[in-house]
Amino acid sequence: MKHIIISTGLMYFLFACSTAEKKVEPLPQKEVKALKVYQAPDTNELKDDEWGQMVRYGARIVRYSTYYIGPDGVASKNLRNKMTCTNCHLDAGTRPYGLNFFDSHRTYPQYRSREDAILTMSDRVNNCITRPHAGKPLALDSKEMIAIVSYIKWVGEKYNPEQHEGYGLKKINYDSLRASSEKGAVVYSIHCQSCHMADGGGLWNPQKTGYVNPPLWGPMSYQEGSSMHRVIKAAEFIKFNMPNLIAKYNQPALSDQEALDVAAFINDGRIHPRPVPKFHNYPNINTKPVDYFKGPYLDPYSEDQHAFGPWYEIEKFYAELKKEKKK
Ligand code: HEC
Ligand code: HEC
Repeated sequence: MKHIIISTGLMYFLFACSTAEKKVEPLPQKEVKALKVYQAPDTNELKDDEWGQMVRYGARIVRYSTYYIGPDGVASKNLRNKMTCTNCHLDAGTRPYGLNFFDSHRTYPQYRSREDAILTMSDRVNNCITRPHAGKPLALDSKEMIAIVSYIKWVGEKYNPEQHEGYGLKKINYDSLRASSEKGAVVYSIHCQSCHMADGGGLWNPQKTGYVNPPLWGPMSYQEGSSMHRVIKAAEFIKFNMPNLIAKYNQPALSDQEALDVAAFINDGRIHPRPVPKFHNYPNINTKPVDYFKGPYLDPYSEDQHAFGPWYEIEKFYAELKKEKKK
């Protein structure tokens, strides 16, 4: 009996406490919504009007770049190699974390450090035409350029960064890791060579008008200084997309270390030469990405450390420089 009295007393006490607490106005909480992986629209939904036709033409150029604007292109001859945009911008720039165009239209024009200038979407398209494709820029008013930028706009039309994820590439945790091209050679022979071949030259289609599996180094591959030539960027692409159609953003085949190692192996200029552009950019050396392989740098670290890591010391240097400037 005594027991019950005590416990009911306790209950009243607790009840009183909780009601007392309820009187305090709670801090307004921002609703945290889970982000959904964005699904690009389907070209079948496009109307057959002027806009629909232009977007479809853009989609075809991104998928069959070589046919339309390659060295023997039917519309123009701007590209110097036979890679296509979709070789890197997977599923024509619609694969989540596969170097897609989900948020591209919304984020351009933007400041670009490679040129130290504000670039429009068309300028950025021309960057890929002149860098990885070693070509000459498309005229800004050409039907092909208008089609490509229309397509890019359409791909991301419903993308909202507050609701969606999946844009561009997924980050890896490179922290204090160093990329080893020697170890990367082993990863390559196990996971990549069957498609991209022992000489890295890829596998041509029977007519040699394009690739079944595109090249990773050598004279027909992307040039030095292309974004894919940067080890961190390439590792982010590889980890969540390669081996093609086996690895996915939510099901990677390699660890961060293996992705860095194989990216180093592919991009190591000492063993795998590739076309050299006429000039290297970054007129403002302050803004060079940490994994850019060629000096001069503002920081005291070597080209080797920039190319293969570890990068945390370099990042720390620039973070401290920023703090100094703010003082
Ligand atoms: C060898 C691989 C490769 C090829 C081929 C390639 N690109 Fe790219 N492209 C990249 C990489 C890497 C980036 C940089 C993405 C980043 O900064 O995260 C990029 C960036 C872009 C961007 C900017 C996207 C954004 O949201 O920042 C556009 C637009 C683009 N490419 C269009 C094209 C078009 C059009 C073609 C074909 C004519 C093409 N690219 C061919 C690798 C490639
Ligand atoms: C099953 C065949 C296959 C395997 C295995 C494979 N790839 Fe690929 N890879 C492809 C194809 C196909 C593409 C182009 C995708 C497209 O056009 O849709 C590609 C594209 C690429 C690209 C961008 C385009 C270029 O040529 O620069 C890189 C980089 C790449 N692969 C690296 C790797 C690495 C590293 C591995 C091993 C971890 C690997 N791949 C394993 C088939 C493969």
